[in-house]
Amino acid sequence: MIFVLTLIALIGSSVADYESYYSCTCYEYRIFCSLPEELPAGSDWSEANAYCGTLGGTLATIDSEDTWNGIRGNIRPEWKENGCNWGFWIGFKDMRPHPHLPSHKTNPQFFSWVTPMCTYYENWAESQPNDNRSESEHGQLCVQLWYRPGHKGKYDDEYCYENKGFVCQIPYNCNCP
Ligand SMILES: *[C@@H]1O[C@H](CO)[C@@H](O)[C@H](O)[C@H]1NC(C)=O
Repeated sequence: MIFVLTLIALIGSSVADYESYYSCTCYEYRIFCSLPEELPAGSDWSEANAYCGTLGGTLATIDSEDTWNGIRGNIRPEWKENGCNWGFWIGFKDMRPHPHLPSHKTNPQFFSWVTPMCTYYENWAESQPNDNRSESEHGQLCVQLWYRPGHKGKYDDEYCYENKGFVCQIPYNCNCP
């Protein structure tokens, strides 16, 4: 019986569709490549944030370099680069009303975190945010951990309607010192 239960647990964990980083601020950062199968396909920024809500959280706030590194260290190798469409949504967005002017190009102070924390960590890729409007007049209002080659999870502004991997931030009961 124990053997069977162990086997079931092993099979269950081998098909887990996410990875987790547990911070000592009592948050689980749960990393998905796509929405779990039982949900509608696609994970644009809003769908991803809504899915995090069903887990009792939101898209993640990056509060420290440790958190950033903890998340990056738990992204599966096959999820990097184009594995999840080149990146992972986080809870950072230009939430100003349309037309979002002045542009947030080179003005990262116009982005806001979905979940307020005591501290924040930003590490933009070179020349980002660039608010590229070539494919949408709204520009690139949502922020991803970017996995185009060489960028290694640095921040990039991207069109919110792109389907990407994403990182949820979910409170949990922990026994940190
Ligand atoms: C904006 O995006 C288009 C299409 O993806 C690309 O060709 C162009 O180089 C981008 N512009 C900048 C400034 O990155």
